[in-house]
Amino acid sequence: MALTPSKGAAYARVMGIGAAIPSRVVDNAEMCTYIESSDEWIQQRTGIVERRWVGEGETVESLSLDAARKAIDAAGLTPADIDAVIISTVSHMVQTPSLAAIVAAKLGCADAAAFDIAAACAGFCYGLGQAESLVRSGAATHVVVIGAETLSEITDVHDRSTAFLFADGAGAAVVGPSETPAMGPVVWGSDGDQAEVISMTRPWPQAVEEGKPSHITMAGQQVFRWATGFIADATRRTLEVSGLTADELDLFVPHQANNRITDAMLRHLKLPETVTVARSIKKYGNNSAASIPIALAELIETGEAKSGDTCLMIGFGAGLVYAGQVIIVP
Ligand SMILES: CC(C)(COP(=O)(O)OP(=O)(O)OC[C@H]1O[C@@H](n2cnc3c(N)ncnc32)[C@H](O)[C@@H]1OP(=O)(O)O)[C@@H](O)C(=O)NCCC(=O)NCCS
Repeated sequence: MALTPSKGAAYARVMGIGAAIPSRVVDNAEMCTYIESSDEWIQQRTGIVERRWVGEGETVESLSLDAARKAIDAAGLTPADIDAVIISTVSHMVQTPSLAAIVAAKLGCADAAAFDIAAACAGFCYGLGQAESLVRSGAATHVVVIGAETLSEITDVHDRSTAFLFADGAGAAVVGPSETPAMGPVVWGSDGDQAEVISMTRPWPQAVEEGKPSHITMAGQQVFRWATGFIADATRRTLEVSGLTADELDLFVPHQANNRITDAMLRHLKLPETVTVARSIKKYGNNSAASIPIALAELIETGEAKSGDTCLMIGFGAGLVYAGQVIIVP
């Protein structure tokens, strides 16, 4: 008996990126009608000037479709070429079926493998790591990875410790075969001992029983310490395992958690001034799994990121979980 093993591409690459930005602009002045705060405090503590929430008719599904279509188009492919769809989201309020199965069908990716992952703000990089492995193993040829969130629906708008931070959006990437190395190894991990640091106020059955919603809750200072210590170090390791040096890096696209965290990471990493650093949190807020692809899509659109550039990415958040890799910009 001789089983036929799967056989994949020598290397994988990101072929296209797409972003879906929700229509509703919520500036800090509006935010201060919900919580006792100020534009100055929010900007100084986070860098956020305004954030986006879903408007009329926009959902986590519609944002996913929009971002994925743009990414497939940018990759020069059609939905029929896609054989796997991965969506990272914590805002799809139906446990089954997966959002990915629905989105795959609506995109027209007939018979594609489809599954959701829950890796919060690390979700896009978790998905990219999986996509790279699928392409190199031969389990898939073209994978769409989507990070999509409508955190406004699970954030308590009157909670002073979270309301100003979280936002909505979706971003996507197509990963496919490559003849040359174009994605570094994923560096990822988790620390469930810190599960309570970012979590939900109550499980959904309890929410139903008590007639109260379940919302995101966050111990801000603990997140800050973890992100500026352990995660800054994980970011350095991500660059190291890629085989590149800081001098060879063109772009740094960290999860848009908070500008002060990005600043602290930069101090730790000592990246050269020539590296372009994503700061899309200013306009879009922290939209979790969507933040990295949205930030990268914007850098590509403005011409700050060029095809062939090297890009270091790191996502981190509730779990606690993290994932990062270096990619070549398509
Ligand atoms: C959330 C965060 C901005 C809060 O800042 P902080 O300095 O830790 O806030 P604290 O709760 O210690 O409060 C400090 C002061 O700000 C005030 N404050 C807290 N929330 C406020 C708000 N929304 N608006 C205005 N003032 C606020 C407090 O009352 C306190 O005032 P005092 O010094 O007069 O007593 C900060 O902890 C942080 O950036 N954490 C990381 C969160 C993150 O990035 N999460 C995403 C993970 S994916």
